[in-house]
Amino acid sequence: GRRDMGGAVVGRETGVRPRRLRRTPGLRAMVRETRLSSEQLIYPIFVQPAGVALQPVESMPGVMRWPVDRVDEPAGEALETGVGAVLLFGIPPAKDARGSGADDPEGVVQQAVRRLKARWPELVVVTDVCLCEYTEHGHCGILRERRGTMEVDNDKTLERLAATAVSHAEAGADIVAPSSMMDDQVRAIRQALDAAGWEDVAVMAYSAKFASAFYGPFREAAGSAPAFGDRRAYQMDPANAREALREVALDVAQGADIVMVKPALAYLDVVRAVREAMALPVAAYNVSGEYAMVEAAARQGWIDRRAVVLESLTAMARAGADLIITYHAVEAARWLREG
Ligand code: PBG
Ligand code: ZN
Repeated sequence: GRRDMGGAVVGRETGVRPRRLRRTPGLRAMVRETRLSSEQLIYPIFVQPAGVALQPVESMPGVMRWPVDRVDEPAGEALETGVGAVLLFGIPPAKDARGSGADDPEGVVQQAVRRLKARWPELVVVTDVCLCEYTEHGHCGILRERRGTMEVDNDKTLERLAATAVSHAEAGADIVAPSSMMDDQVRAIRQALDAAGWEDVAVMAYSAKFASAFYGPFREAAGSAPAFGDRRAYQMDPANAREALREVALDVAQGADIVMVKPALAYLDVVRAVREAMALPVAAYNVSGEYAMVEAAARQGWIDRRAVVLESLTAMARAGADLIITYHAVEAARWLREG
């Protein structure tokens, strides 16, 4: 006979039959090991200046760029469906070399946070802290020339990230989420927040952020593709899992409250490893390219969209993600409510 994990013989001989607990929906629900809930989902929202037309993101059907005066619409849906938090990304009116829009008190993200918090103080608001949406060159930091080529100046960038995080805290953000992959970014932000009196604002660190081709649609949405080169000198090599644990440990030592693995589906081994190594909450970012693949195949009628989305999100939770950032958050929350 077959052998189960305990080494026992299965089937007629012993009477062991795993299918007994799969027979009905009630039995399956009772022994289900992983349960998704809407509160663990985080909904990303792209915010652009007020007065600009609502713009769909072509490579992400169903995702919009929201003018700041209409940001209540997607955020209200998140609140109404029980999604845990929103994550704001800014598309500024203008870009420059230092990413001045990032820490502008009148910047799009700052305006959006103030507006949402004034209307719904209970809504959990997370802000992405990076410069790539705000720099004319599209890199995640300040550039300098070194050895005859342009590169991102790590420590100059830290000052800009810290100022950006403080401006988001002043606007009312509950959590700031640094995504630039600069060394020491969590320490720089934690110290600046504390020095400004924002010791109760949490940091969700994009700790193990890989240099992934799955970010393509996001860069179209945010207009943040690098004008030259790529991000491989700061984001992680997709081949490295041990290094991910090292990055996570560094961020925890620097004061991160939540750590993140990004992307999600192709990196579930990393999610699992981080979950087992660390006691703090782990987030997985189900990124734009993962969303686009599902939407593209569903449009062709090649997959069952709802089933694929829920199966994927369940797999992320099973791998150990406490929090899941997904463009499907509102829809998935509705499906979970319907049962
Ligand atoms: C910018 C940033 C990116 C994403 C989140 N923050 C893109 C990048 O690094 O180019 C990706 C999100 C997604 O693909 O859904 N630092
Ligand atoms: Zn960036």
